[in-house]
Amino acid sequence: MYQLIYISSSTKNLAREEFLELVAQSQLKNDAMGITGVLMFKDGNFMQVLEGEQELIAKLYSAIKVDPRHTLVSIIQEGPISLREYQGWSSTYFNSDEGQYEVIC
Ligand SMILES: Cc1cc2nc3c(=O)[nH]c(=O)nc-3n(C[C@H](O)[C@H](O)[C@H](O)COP(=O)(O)O)c2cc1C
Repeated sequence: MYQLIYISSSTKNLAREEFLELVAQSQLKNDAMGITGVLMFKDGNFMQVLEGEQELIAKLYSAIKVDPRHTLVSIIQEGPISLREYQGWSSTYFNSDEGQYEVIC
């Protein structure tokens, strides 16, 4: 089991609907690959924890890294873990302009 955590900045101010779309797409693919974790969006920045088989995490991260919806993608921590910290997939959206904080799933 492998865990990777990165941060990035969105290339535009992501509307709630666009975030929901991204989460729905990610959830389907991550479920199919047995990848769990969390995706947070706050004030134009993302933080994502991905955990699963190392090879799958590496493959997914290389796709995510080049996604034009964000930039300055930087790994803040990665390495083997003995147990998953997230049993499922969760995401939160926070936009302080609108004073909105929301747990999506
Ligand atoms: C911040 C961010 C997080 C993402 N997280 C995931 C994810 O966890 N799982 C996933 O499959 N795609 C995720 N994506 C989307 C991927 O970058 C990419 O669009 C997707 O894997 C392409 O899938 P496709 O080749 O099936 O079209 C994320 C994109 C962004 C911008």
